[in-house]
Amino acid sequence: MELPFAESYKIKMVEPLRKSTREEREQWIKEADYNLFQLKSDQVYIDCLTDSGTGAMSDRQWAAMMMGDESYAGSASFFQLKETINKITGFDYVIPTHQGRAAENVLFSHLVTAGAIVPGNSHFDTTKGHIESRKAFAVDCTVDEAKDTQLEVPFKGNVDPAKLEKVLSENADKVPFIIVTITNNTAGGQPVSMQNLREVRAIADKYGKRVVFDSARFVENAFFIYEREEGYADKTIKEICKEMFSYADGMTMSSKKDGLVNMGGFIATRHEDWYEGAKRFCIPFEGFLTYGGMNGRDMAALAVGLDENTELETIETRIRQVQYLAAKLDEYGIPYQRPVGGHAIFVDADRVLDQIPKEEFPAQTLAIELYIEAGVRGCEIGYILADRDPVTRENRFGGLDLLRLCIARRVYTNNHMDVIAAALKNVYDRRHEITRGVKIVWETELMRHFTVKLERL
Ligand code: F0G
Repeated sequence: MELPFAESYKIKMVEPLRKSTREEREQWIKEADYNLFQLKSDQVYIDCLTDSGTGAMSDRQWAAMMMGDESYAGSASFFQLKETINKITGFDYVIPTHQGRAAENVLFSHLVTAGAIVPGNSHFDTTKGHIESRKAFAVDCTVDEAKDTQLEVPFKGNVDPAKLEKVLSENADKVPFIIVTITNNTAGGQPVSMQNLREVRAIADKYGKRVVFDSARFVENAFFIYEREEGYADKTIKEICKEMFSYADGMTMSSKKDGLVNMGGFIATRHEDWYEGAKRFCIPFEGFLTYGGMNGRDMAALAVGLDENTELETIETRIRQVQYLAAKLDEYGIPYQRPVGGHAIFVDADRVLDQIPKEEFPAQTLAIELYIEAGVRGCEIGYILADRDPVTRENRFGGLDLLRLCIARRVYTNNHMDVIAAALKNVYDRRHEITRGVKIVWETELMRHFTVKLERL
């Protein structure tokens, strides 16, 4: 008999989980104004809100923390981190920041000015926020396939070369750089193929432009290339990463995802002028250049995390768990963005709660129902998150309305995946009884989903 796939680690430290009753959860979610970000963590049984900063570190990472160098300038931990990043990406210049959006803030302060156009594949909301707050424009050039959740294509996160070329041919002088998000979080944790990265590079070269990778989940992206793209099955994950980054000029990184740490980020680039430009903003916003908002010990743990996660066993364990959950949903017939991506399941709420009008926010309604059902906390990546159009102030209903269930790295077991799937099935089975959604009673102008207050209809 062939031995089944199993985790590449064993567990040394555990943290108790708290279960609750349906009555308690009904009360708590009401007190939270039906916004799952407003729940306290001990009101949650299995937390799928995000995979950002929620992972478990390894014994090697904890050991590295003890060796962290907290020197204000010239920290040994910084140089250790810089060397690791250089080995994985080939980039010589590194600026640490306290998280991914801070990396965006520092780099974009140097590169993005009013009226600029930054094309890319489904810019993440903070990325878009840092572009739009500078009165510049984020133009989404993701392939159309990403919009059909039931379409089974291997690289649904790709940039559409024709759309990118159009932006550049019409507005080349306004484009400071192209940004490619690997994996494409907003489209469902979908990967970008090596072929596509090569095409983007060629278009960029044609117009004399530079390319930034938003790299939060670059190792997951590399794994999908290894698994799905011809010519990569005998390459190591580190070799694949090196090739991916060879097509970029620089990167912003949220280390809270594929860096396997709970806080941190960085900018890395091959260009001295970008480094010099970004440096000027790192010091006032983040801190001195050899810590940029991070503790020495956290940089030490990140160096180990990056090295560890770019090993096949680690990343394969991670992806297989997400695929395990997806297979359960297939069994139950629950529609999600197919094929499952790297860090989460994105349930297609419009298809599940198809009797609830867009104006009543189906994905948010599904998130509330799932929480009440079993204490599983997911996150709406849909019409609430999309905010209003800055000009018309109308809700943006043009995109997908998804319930994202993120899987934290090395935190839950497959038994927990079974619970998530069963809870979702129970909600799915009674979907026809859920006829009304929610309405917004209070919201902010930008990034309203964190603080929005809702009422159930
Ligand atoms: N880029 C991508 C693709 C992201 O997914 C995130 C964060 C960021 C940038 C910003 O990084 O949080 O370290 O400041 N995504 C989290 C999520 C918050 O839940 O998807 P950060």
